Amino acid sequence: MTKIEAIVREEVYQDLLDALKSVDIHGITVSQVMGCGTQKGYTRVVRGSKVDINMLPKIKFEIVVSSDAFADEVVRIIRKTAVTGQPGDGKIFVYDLKDVIRIRTNEHGVDAIN
Ligand SMILES: Nc1ncnc2c1ncn2[C@@H]1O[C@H](COP(=O)(O)OP(=O)(O)OP(=O)(O)O)[C@@H](O)[C@H]1O
Ligand SMILES: [Mg+2]
Repeated sequence: MTKIEAIVREEVYQDLLDALKSVDIHGITVSQVMGCGTQKGYTRVVRGSKVDINMLPKIKFEIVVSSDAFADEVVRIIRKTAVTGQPGDGKIFVYDLKDVIRIRTNEHGVDAIN
């Protein structure tokens, strides 16, 4: 099982949600988050003074899938939908997931996802 966590621009939220719902995912978590990447935010001039804007609003998607092949597919969809080529497009983190438990039934692992 694989967990994919993607931090993307706010503007791609709806398109990415639609793209992910069009494939066979069995669950998704979305959060509004704040973050910075390698640029550590940026500096903007506000009323003549430089202001550091370190933490920018982003959207985090979390998706757990049962197979490596499907994880690759989800990563491809995220990349295709979220890329502009400009700094700040975001990152995709891919984790090996130890276990999943469906609370209602106490199913574990792949059974708890599908
Ligand atoms: N190393 C990291 N650890 C945790 N979160 C990160 C990391 N890098 C990026 N993020 C998250 O992803 C968001 C977008 O990052 P961003 O796209 O700016 O990455 P980057 O490495 O600076 O790439 P780019 O040069 O394209 O901007 C950040 O606001 C932050 O929430
Ligand atoms: Mg950046």
